[in-house]
Amino acid sequence: MNAHATTKVESLLPWANKAFRDNPYPWYDVVRSKAPVYKDPLVENTFVISRYDDIVKYGKHPSLTMKAPDWVPKSPWSLFKDSIIVRDPPEHTDLRRRSNKWFTPKLANQWAEATAKAVNSAIDGLGPQGMIEAFRNLALIPAHHAMCSALGLPTEGYDTASAWMHDAMTGLGSAVTAEEEQRCQAAFDYLSDRVRYYLAMRRASPEPGMTASWIEEVANGEMTEQQLFEGLLLFWATGTPNAAYLITGGLEIFARHPDVFELWKTSPDKHQAIMNEITRLHTPEISFTRFTTEELEIRGVKIPPKMLVRFMIASANRDPEVFKDPHKVDVTRSAEAGNHLSFGVGAHSCPGMIISLAEANAVFNTIAKRVKRIEMAGEPVYAHNDRSAAYARLPLRLVV
Ligand code: HEM
Repeated sequence: MNAHATTKVESLLPWANKAFRDNPYPWYDVVRSKAPVYKDPLVENTFVISRYDDIVKYGKHPSLTMKAPDWVPKSPWSLFKDSIIVRDPPEHTDLRRRSNKWFTPKLANQWAEATAKAVNSAIDGLGPQGMIEAFRNLALIPAHHAMCSALGLPTEGYDTASAWMHDAMTGLGSAVTAEEEQRCQAAFDYLSDRVRYYLAMRRASPEPGMTASWIEEVANGEMTEQQLFEGLLLFWATGTPNAAYLITGGLEIFARHPDVFELWKTSPDKHQAIMNEITRLHTPEISFTRFTTEELEIRGVKIPPKMLVRFMIASANRDPEVFKDPHKVDVTRSAEAGNHLSFGVGAHSCPGMIISLAEANAVFNTIAKRVKRIEMAGEPVYAHNDRSAAYARLPLRLVV
């Protein structure tokens, strides 16, 4: 989707640089103050917006579109042709309704019972030292079980899908190399094949859930086969790793700040504030993009039509104009931290928000009931790129 970056130009946002990918926040601090509406010299036709207020105001501007103009090269993500991520209202609204009804707060809590069960069985299986790889066993797999309850699908095989999904997300970044693009394509080849396998399975043996229900909607002429395929790909494959990164971020905070874990255990009225702070600091989706359809002026900078605008929500979440001491874990900032932008803004904001938060609550509550203390048992292995803040492993020790 994005032009490959060249390397010789000076840039405030060196997308491909490893130090930048590992910890982009010092660069965000500079770009926010020096060039809040930044014409990216490394990437064709691209402007980057990094201040909180601008993202809230312009991220949902009605003149912006999800539809890529002609200059945008085809990418593996171009397989999405008729789903919520490429449609604007009103078609978007109609498609969103079809998934939203499966993720109401009541249903999300019901799906998240599968998360609690998976966490309980991980704790049952602890060795005498309580060592656990928390990303996979307390976040990814438990979150996936909730999603499979909603979809009415079997739970096996998600480790592989999530690893591929990580490569697929890299393909949405700003400095995608040819090799990264190839891996993104391989990821979608694999994930698409699994989705077709599950569709065939639920056609042959329907079970309650969103998949079988959508198959029926296709049979009734209410949805197309393409919408069914893309919709299932989005919900089965793409979202859960983000939920897992968020949950893992919370567990790392609990391990590094025992007082915050203690507060979660003793004060249910503080859960919302703690969850907000975790979600603000661990912004799994670093940015979102739109295209201009007409000139758009932000802070005196005129962005011409057909430009790509990248909204840096991870930067907004650490904007000192909104969050005092933005890099600090501070669970007393409840009211303001509730306004983080981690789930996006406007019509395309995340439809997985409710189930992700239900899953995170289920993980934290289950652990809080059974675990006295959470300790770091080694350094985390992060797998960030310039689009996702990701974990590969989080070694913890649970003291039961
Ligand atoms: C079960 C887990 C999840 C699923 C199934 C999911 C799915 C999706 C989908 C399908 C969209 C596109 C919505 C649209 O265009 O209308 C989306 C957008 C988004 N999601 Fe999620 N997501 C999940 C979890 C998360 C989490 C945990 C975060 C971050 C905390 C997140 C952040 C976002 C953001 C920022 C957007 C907006 C992108 C944009 O405006 O272009 N998602 N999500």
